[in-house]
Parts: sequence; C-alpha cells; structure tokens
Amino acid sequence: MTAARFSSSDPVADRRADYAEQFAARGDFQAAADVLSSALELVPAWTAGWFRLGEFHEKAGQGEAALRAWDQALELDPADPFGASLKRDLARAMPVAESMPPAFVELLFDQYASRFDAALTRGLEYRGPDILLARLQANGFERAAHALDLGCGTGLMGEVLRPFSGRLAGVDLSAGMLAEAEAKGVYDALAKADIARMDMVPAQYDLIVAADVFAYVGALEAVIAWCRAALLPGGYLAFTVEAAEEDIVLKESRRFAHGAPYLENLLTQAGFAAIDLAPCVVRKDRGEDIHSFCVVAALPAICHDREGDGEARIPA
Ligand SMILES: C[S@@+](CC[C@H](N)C(=O)[O-])C[C@H]1O[C@@H](n2cnc3c(N)ncnc32)[C@H](O)[C@@H]1O
Repeated sequence: MTAARFSSSDPVADRRADYAEQFAARGDFQAAADVLSSALELVPAWTAGWFRLGEFHEKAGQGEAALRAWDQALELDPADPFGASLKRDLARAMPVAESMPPAFVELLFDQYASRFDAALTRGLEYRGPDILLARLQANGFERAAHALDLGCGTGLMGEVLRPFSGRLAGVDLSAGMLAEAEAKGVYDALAKADIARMDMVPAQYDLIVAADVFAYVGALEAVIAWCRAALLPGGYLAFTVEAAEEDIVLKESRRFAHGAPYLENLLTQAGFAAIDLAPCVVRKDRGEDIHSFCVVAALPAICHDREGDGEARIPA
C-alpha cells in the first residue's frame, strides 16, 4: 500500500516522514520508525502515518510495535483504507480474515487505475481474460445475450468479451477503474457497487465473469449465491482465483487464494451442474508464476428453485 504518499497536512511532519522514507529506502527500518514516530508526535491523528509506521516496525522485526501502530490506524479510521486490519491479521499465527475492507480495495485500485493496463499486461504478463474466454468456449459457451463483468476494472475482460456479448454490463468498487473502463467504450452499462455485499438480483444474465477479482473478496458464499440467482437457466459463471491448498487463505500479498474442494462444494451446493476447474497461471508477481484456477460453472438448462426477486443495484 502506498500510505507513504499521503500528506499529513503538516509541513514539518511531512519533512520528517520524507526522511523516514529515505532511511527505509536504505534498509534502515529502525531509524525510519524512529523518525516517523517523531513526525506522528506532531500529527497524532495521521492515519496513513500510523499505517506506515506499522510497516517500518514490521520490517525492523518489531511485531508488537507494528500491531500497536496498525491498531492506532484502525482506531483513527475504521473504514481501513490502507488495509491495516489485513496486516494485523497476517501477523497472527493463523490469519482469520475472510473479507477485505472495501475502502482498502477502492483506494488501492483508484491509485492504480491509470497505470493498470500497462502494469498488468506488460509487467505481470496478465492473461486472465484470454484464459477465461478459452475455458468458457471449451465448456460449450458461444455467445451471451446479456453478460455481466464483476470487478470489471479498466475493461480488459470486457474487451475480450465484447464480440461474444449482446448487452455487456460491468460493475466495480473503484471509480478510477470504472472511468478507465468507460473510456474504452466496450460496456453498455457500468456501475459502482460492492459485489461482496449485494442484495439478491433477479435472473437476467446468461454469463457472469470475474477475472482476478475474488482474490479481493475472500469468502465467496455471498457472491456465488447472488450470482446463481442472477443467472438464467443454462447460464455460466466463470472466474479465476489464486490457488490454495486450504479453503481460503490470506496471503502475504494481502490477496486471498482459494482451494479446489471449497470452490467445488460451494458451486455444487449453489446448484451449478457442470463445474470445470482448470489449473492455470493467470499472471506473475515479482517474477513468480501465480498458480491459479480458472473455474467455469454452468446452471442446468431448467432450474426450479430460483431465488432473486430483490431490487437490482447493478446495471441492467
Ligand atoms: C485485479 S483487478 C481485475 C480487473 C479486471 N477484471 C481484469 O481482468 O482486468 C480487480 C478489480 O476488482 C475490483 N474489486 C475488488 N473487490 C471488489 C468488490 N468487492 N466489488 C466490486 N469490485 C471489486 C477492483 O476494484 C479491481 O478493479
């Protein structure tokens, strides 16, 4: 997270924070923590400063001090735009977080939006949309009359899906990412919404995709339930996840990974008939392959137990 870029609104404190960053850049995290602590004496309500102090303490091997700093950041801003709760959770012997603070995801991607496409496709060799389309086609998908792209981001998935979709809608938490998607002109409708906290949605889609999004959601019960309700009989749900041995794991990267049995059970219980789970490499991170699953699940052509008569808050 780039809390370091946020000003404290106090020039003296900001200057001290800059010195702290210089120590950190040289690998002297103890000095960085000392200097940043002195800045925080001037601006004790500076959330970004407390978050960053936690990171310096962590790197200096001072776990307890790191936890105290992240606690302070959370107390000052419970919406948690820097993801202090995730850092705190990762510091436990056994992380327990199963969801991500929406404010953290929003800020992360708002900051990332303008350089996202170049960073992902060139820097990280991201191939999520192409892999998803190929797996969908391998499972009998030809064309969607009405498709929904969850966590559509800047529209990389939308560009790939456009030739195979009648009406194509996208939804995302980040206004910055949505603005980039809008500029591409591939979606018929875009909306800002949190896919992890949706009401039930009436059945209207024959395809819902989520490319590299569930890593920011964690527990998938709620999202799978409303997607199932929003799909028409015979509809497809297709997504990628980072692969884990356990059900749900919060990784050091502060992204979630998911296990195959967890996904298969969840989709089966939700009523999906055909579930195809293919191992793949969706992208790299710091030069390492991110081992992933590409999942395509189809509803039976006739569904009897349909839910979803709630109000839709997603684009029609
Ligand atoms: C790694 S990007 C992938 C974007 C796009 N699907 C692609 O393949 O390029 C993850 C996107 O998911 C969005 N996202 C994460 N959690 C979300 C949530 N709970 N609700 C809506 N969007 C979310 C982020 O804002 C971000 O745009």
